[in-house]
Amino acid sequence: NPGAAPPRLPFSRVTQEVLAFFRTLLPGRTITDPDLLKSSNVDWLKTVEGNSEVLLRPKTTEEVSQILRHCSERNLAVCPQGGNTGLVGGSVPVFDEIILSTSLMNQVITFDNISGILTCQAGCVLENLSNYLEERDFIMPLDLGAKGSCHIGGNVSTNAGGLRLLRYGSLRGTVLGLEVVLADGRILKCLATLRKDNTGYDLKQLFIGSEGTLGVITAVSILCPRKPKAVNVAFLGCSSFQQLLETFQYCRGMLGEILSAFEFLDASCMSLLEKHLKLTNPITESPFYIVIETAGSNATHDEEKLHQFLEEVMTSSLVTDGTVATEATKIKALWSLRERVTEALTHEGYTYKYDISLPVEKIYDLVQDMRGHLGDMAKNVVGYGHVGDGNLHLNITSPSKDPALLAAIEPYVYEWTSEWKGSISAEHGLGLKKRNYIYYSKPSEAVALMGSIKAMLDPKGILNPYKTLPDNIH
Ligand code: FAD
Ligand code: MLT
Ligand code: ZN
Repeated sequence: NPGAAPPRLPFSRVTQEVLAFFRTLLPGRTITDPDLLKSSNVDWLKTVEGNSEVLLRPKTTEEVSQILRHCSERNLAVCPQGGNTGLVGGSVPVFDEIILSTSLMNQVITFDNISGILTCQAGCVLENLSNYLEERDFIMPLDLGAKGSCHIGGNVSTNAGGLRLLRYGSLRGTVLGLEVVLADGRILKCLATLRKDNTGYDLKQLFIGSEGTLGVITAVSILCPRKPKAVNVAFLGCSSFQQLLETFQYCRGMLGEILSAFEFLDASCMSLLEKHLKLTNPITESPFYIVIETAGSNATHDEEKLHQFLEEVMTSSLVTDGTVATEATKIKALWSLRERVTEALTHEGYTYKYDISLPVEKIYDLVQDMRGHLGDMAKNVVGYGHVGDGNLHLNITSPSKDPALLAAIEPYVYEWTSEWKGSISAEHGLGLKKRNYIYYSKPSEAVALMGSIKAMLDPKGILNPYKTLPDNIH
């Protein structure tokens, strides 16, 4: 199985002398109690478990630098960890790598309320940053279901997409600067707070989405939008995916600049939300559900636009039923129907997760094709995701881990994706689970260059080994 752990590489083991060094550097923050280490050794999905004996909790960039200098001199492997919400097995050790957690690096450094530029430490929890900004009339340019746990450093390291990408773009555009500690302990201070800066290569881009394999991000500066004065959420039902796509077309045309999200889930997702989380479907049962969000500066103007759009899609029968929320608690309730699908799935047993980019008109074909292909081998084959970004989350469940089911899904799903020139990882990254499938989405010349960059920045390969890059680069 190409997603399984490879053999352990010949890194050194943590000795008493190494522990003594860490205890002096991080008194009370060098964790070796196996009970305390347990949750950091296992991923959010509870599908990958490592065996680390040390968890380090630095508070400053200087401490991170000293940790990495020590580890690089002694050839000790390190697994950087943020909120540990990653979905590809990248955030936990595979063997006994030292876990370097950013959980105590949680300070806002500066916020400029004219430019909207926030600079903070990497371990700030996304939801805390959102609350901090909302008090100042701004918002974060990204939002995702894991906001209560994920760290901004983890978001940047995975180049997380989420629910607002359609409106505010990817972190590759909104992150203006990064501070990064390199594998040998050198500190790269590229924490610019400039919208425009064409002085040489844009090195920060190397670390965005590199999943802790090239450096440890210690601080982030990010451009934040103003808090919209009016937010509306519509939850709609559609009887076919074709109609959902037509609704998307109308939506773009009629809501234009106020559209901030266009998300979907299918009827199987809705059944799981009802069954496991006791959430109620607010509208008539449909094969597909859409979450549309508008965010703008004029409530009357936005509501008028939204109502015109709703009238159009209802009278043309593209949408079968719908409800609209303008009030915060109702907005939150409607959003949970989309955000909590991931959680509902975990109650079904084992979930095989696929995070695919495809031409938007193809995204649901893959779900239907997979249903036919797997027949009754799978318990559920469900689709949800970010329609506006052409990003499908195809999830397949079985009561427990099932190698025969896995063999029927892979490489079938990757071949399908590659045939349509899609991406086998739209937003979650490659981590441990997907690393060996990189060639379905990238040419070998590109993978070889990635290998050279890794060798240059981390010649001993101590940073998050076994992750992102394939076991064999050819
Ligand atoms: P972790 O899981 O701790 O780490 C992720 C990776 O980044 C690992 O490889 C780790 O080694 C590395 N890393 C972490 N911090 C650093 C650092 N400071 N420096 C260097 N490397 C680091 N993802 C999306 O893209 N869109 C979504 O909509 C989305 N929704 C989600 C909903 C739920 C319920 C869950 C559980 C996950 C979701 N995810 C989503 C996946 C996950 O939340 C994101 O990938 C998130 O950005 C990870 O942040 P984290 O702090 O938890 O990182
Ligand atoms: C989402 O969009 O809900 C997340 O990426 C999590 C998932 O894929 O389950
Ligand atoms: Zn997603």
